[in-house]
Amino acid sequence: MPLVTDPNLIAGMERAEDAGVYRLSDDLAIVQTLDFFTPIVDDPYDFGQVAAANALSDVYAMGGRPLTAMNIVCFPVGTMDMSILREILGGGLDKVREAGAVLVGGHSVDDPELKYGLSVTGTIHPAKVVLNSGAKPGDRLILTKPLGTGIINTAQKLQRAPEGAVAAAIECMATLNKKASELMMTVEVHACTDVTGFGFLGHACEMVEGTDIGMLVRSSAVPYFPDAKGLAEMGLLPGGLHRNREFRANMVEIDRQVPGYLADILFDPQTSGGLLISVPEQDAGALLQRMHQAGIRQAAIVGEVLGEPKGKIVVQ
Ligand code: CO
Ligand code: CO
Repeated sequence: MPLVTDPNLIAGMERAEDAGVYRLSDDLAIVQTLDFFTPIVDDPYDFGQVAAANALSDVYAMGGRPLTAMNIVCFPVGTMDMSILREILGGGLDKVREAGAVLVGGHSVDDPELKYGLSVTGTIHPAKVVLNSGAKPGDRLILTKPLGTGIINTAQKLQRAPEGAVAAAIECMATLNKKASELMMTVEVHACTDVTGFGFLGHACEMVEGTDIGMLVRSSAVPYFPDAKGLAEMGLLPGGLHRNREFRANMVEIDRQVPGYLADILFDPQTSGGLLISVPEQDAGALLQRMHQAGIRQAAIVGEVLGEPKGKIVVQ
């Protein structure tokens, strides 16, 4: 696709940004995003919540404030009960409300495969947009949610996941990145993205790709669901995990001491994952503390930005 250039385009398709950002005036820009997918959890209300939290997250990753949202629905009208659709939309609506945004419409089509998501529009000051590039050597990396939801969802489909693990993963995926984003905007944040389908290391790679920085990830500091360990050791890994690892093989160097299950978890595709934030060292501790106080209990400093190796990530 040819790249679009426009003097008011702050974030477009040239990098793998979380959302598009377009300047309307000197002090106002809109943030736009769209995400939808097939069900990843059994309960329709939960699915609606997770899909909405996931769609809203791309606005939060840019530092924006969601204003309006629109549903996008593919639904098998002839073969599925309409009450299921009502539950999904109810879950989505509750999350949009929690975000302080307004649902303004949507579109649905008859489709044999159920899919749901939202298009979200938010606002931000043009000078405050947080891109996924811009991390600086010396920065600390904060991850705000535990990893492993892809592994747990895969195990759940095969009825091999412990009940507690499924409930914990759903609760985590349905949690908005609202507070994490608002708190990150109180400091001089250099870069941010949300961890979704490419996994923690895949999205971290987007932050260093084509730049003159590198990253060191301390695997023992990375938060993950305890049950994901055993499930990964049983080989219950989503197909996307292997693709994520192969795709970034030349950018990621994993130390031999890192256990195999943990290397898997670092590439596990996430749905509605946490924010990965690059913040100056002097702000990192205080920001992390404020996150913990705000109930973002699993947020952790998981590594740092380095001048070397350029364009690469070392996992220890
Ligand atoms: Co994103
Ligand atoms: Co997205």
